[in-house]
Amino acid sequence: MIKNDLFLRALKGETVDRPPVWMMRQAGRYLPEFMELRKKYDFFTRCQTPELASEITVQPIRRYGMDAAILFSDILVIPQAMDIEVEMKPNFGPYLPNPIRTKEDLDKVIVPNIEDTLGYVLDAVTMTKEKLNNEIPLIGFAGSPWTILCYCVEGQGSKSFDKARGFCFTQPELAHQLLQKITDTTIAYLKAKVKAGVNAVQVFDSWGGMLSPQDYQEFSWPYIQQIVDALKDESPVIVFGKGCWFVLKEMAVSGASAVGVDWTCSPQNARYLTGGKVTLQGNFDPARLLSPPDKIKNMVHQMIREFGKDRYVVNLGHGILPNIPLENAKAFVDAVKEYQE
Ligand code: CP3
Repeated sequence: MIKNDLFLRALKGETVDRPPVWMMRQAGRYLPEFMELRKKYDFFTRCQTPELASEITVQPIRRYGMDAAILFSDILVIPQAMDIEVEMKPNFGPYLPNPIRTKEDLDKVIVPNIEDTLGYVLDAVTMTKEKLNNEIPLIGFAGSPWTILCYCVEGQGSKSFDKARGFCFTQPELAHQLLQKITDTTIAYLKAKVKAGVNAVQVFDSWGGMLSPQDYQEFSWPYIQQIVDALKDESPVIVFGKGCWFVLKEMAVSGASAVGVDWTCSPQNARYLTGGKVTLQGNFDPARLLSPPDKIKNMVHQMIREFGKDRYVVNLGHGILPNIPLENAKAFVDAVKEYQE
């Protein structure tokens, strides 16, 4: 039994005194205690060492007391497990030296055994659950198949992922084969995480907004729906698409427990598009955490009034930025805890 189950109750749509709060990418980036570990260990060492991953996961909780923790890891551990090399270059980001562009490239991509390739993530879940001591729930996550394809084909981050989109539009059959391999791996991975103890899972479609609504229905949505179908009886599922307001309607009836919203969609419009029934999560502009703490508090209270306190999880509209002052992150969390109707 989890002592503070506000987050799980909001996912079920229960009536609450105040909404729960956590922040996407809350583990890492802006915390000085994280930067200390970052100096000593490279990125994938941090991901692959359960002591480090679990420590980084609980750091923001100790400091701010969010209502949920999200496991420190990365969406790119999936292509790594599928035998696609991924490096994390300092001051550059992800780099995949052998991107997938041809049938020969694709044929080398495997659907791995999860325990063998990603056992370290499952160990990190176990160790984090011990550290959390049933105080709050733990969220596990994966990238959407489309977002993972973006990195596998492009070979690095991009503002527009032209090569990834070009691959889909010139070689759609190969694209669908790659998406299916990623989907099969992701389903097995998320199921293993649930078995290891995570209390909810989130699918990040960070680059879904790169696709037109029509192409989204071909290259992203069907694969996310497969993941929701496979997981929903075992765990609450949250689907978040950056720039994906046009698919909120499908997301709301997909079987997902909650739907993430970014800051370009108003709370009213998000409620309208999702039919008012599903739990929504979001949507504070991450750059708004640069406003002074008093302003942040007022804006958070206004946001809760607009979404409504029930069927709602307070969050940012995307990941926290690296340059956010500590007292501003605190103001965001405190504003939610202080909220009264
Ligand atoms: O939410 C959390 O705090 C848990 C940890 C987490 C990380 N990555 C740690 C990380 C999560 C949920 C992710 C997801 C992720 N990774 C996404 C989807 C979410 C989003 O923001 O859209 C994406 C697109 C990635 C891919 C990725 N990983 C990029 C583009 C980068 C480099 C730029 C950046 O974000 O700093 C990473 C590296 C990464 N992943 C870092 C962290 C803390 C920073 C690098 C470092 O610490 O050395």
